[in-house]
Amino acid sequence: MTNRPFDVDTIRRDFPSLDQHIHSKPLVYLDSAATSQKPRAVIESISQYYSGANANVHRGSHSLTASATNRFEAARQTVADFLNAPVEGIVWTRGATEALNLIAQTYARQKLQPGDEIIVTEMEHHANIVPWQIVAEQTGANVVKWPINPQTCQLELAELDNLLTSRTRMLCIAHISNVTGTRNPVEAVIEKAHMAGAIVVVDGAQAVVHENVDVTSMNADFYVFSGHKLFAPAGIGVLYGRPSLLKTMPPWHGGGKMVEKVSFSGTQYAESPAKFEAGTPNVAGAIALGEAIHWLANIDHKGAEAHIAALQNQLLEGIQNIEDLRIVGLQHGASIVAFIIDGVHHSDIATLLDQQGIAVRSGHHCAHPLMDALSINGCVRISIALYNTEGDISRCVAAIQKACDLL
Ligand code: ALA
Repeated sequence: MTNRPFDVDTIRRDFPSLDQHIHSKPLVYLDSAATSQKPRAVIESISQYYSGANANVHRGSHSLTASATNRFEAARQTVADFLNAPVEGIVWTRGATEALNLIAQTYARQKLQPGDEIIVTEMEHHANIVPWQIVAEQTGANVVKWPINPQTCQLELAELDNLLTSRTRMLCIAHISNVTGTRNPVEAVIEKAHMAGAIVVVDGAQAVVHENVDVTSMNADFYVFSGHKLFAPAGIGVLYGRPSLLKTMPPWHGGGKMVEKVSFSGTQYAESPAKFEAGTPNVAGAIALGEAIHWLANIDHKGAEAHIAALQNQLLEGIQNIEDLRIVGLQHGASIVAFIIDGVHHSDIATLLDQQGIAVRSGHHCAHPLMDALSINGCVRISIALYNTEGDISRCVAAIQKACDLL
């Protein structure tokens, strides 16, 4: 299907939440890396589901449950197609964080031996650090840091050759940094890790919205993302696991529907993905995530990414002459600009921007080790989505300048 050329005004009409005022100023939403706004199709799918289609799934045989089950499983297939993954490799979770914890507590906990190593990059979000520290403590394994080059804010592949050892069992890496937008060369990393006999976990939370992710050609062992950054609601996320690995993993939570047969003499578990989905799942969330992916499939992807890149250039040009403003990391990603202003606290800038109706994130972005590596205690992050406009960026640049003049 050929999509219509990208048109930001048409896109914006799909997002009712953008049409509001904050502090009596029209909202400029530049915090989409924290969570995206939701298109009408997604909002309506949730409302329609609860208004007329609500039922539990994979339980009972009445018509409503059959229809809810079909829609729930169709959404799983939509996610599988979106990632070019086999459908039996798609596990529903609450989000990327839960997916990473699931891998740590099922795959890693049974595989790791004392002295084994898990390589984790220094630019990871806490969700892709702490679960590995927990499982390392439980098993006697060690978390090994893959440092960034603080000048470029990038990982160096040559450095990886020094870190991979005969004890490396896992490597955990973000596809795109949530702080700087840096895109990591995950394909090359996976190849190197596999040659050393390690499996790779990719945190795709920031990537799925911008990249055409293909877990099969990437050869990822695990790939995780959250729905809420991909125009879907919070509380639904995805774990892709290579089916041959999922099969070997013990269950995550115990409960209904993750079993074949329960008796007091022992329980036989269901096959994956059901084995990892105990209890009533977030049916409406899964269906809404499927809707979000369908909505996105009707957008001219190249046009949208070119639009975002043009806005990022406009932003970089606009702020380049602001005194004492320093960009955090070279900008390799097209959707994020992080910066600090010497002598000014990042949260003061964000507060002044908010007073102008402009939403950005400030702080450490749940990435303390990256902040430490860059010798900063936080920064302001502007994250651009396909619904932002040139006007949003002009207002943001003017507001940053005004904040600097005031502070
Ligand atoms: N991980 C999200 C962010 O980067 C919440 O803001």
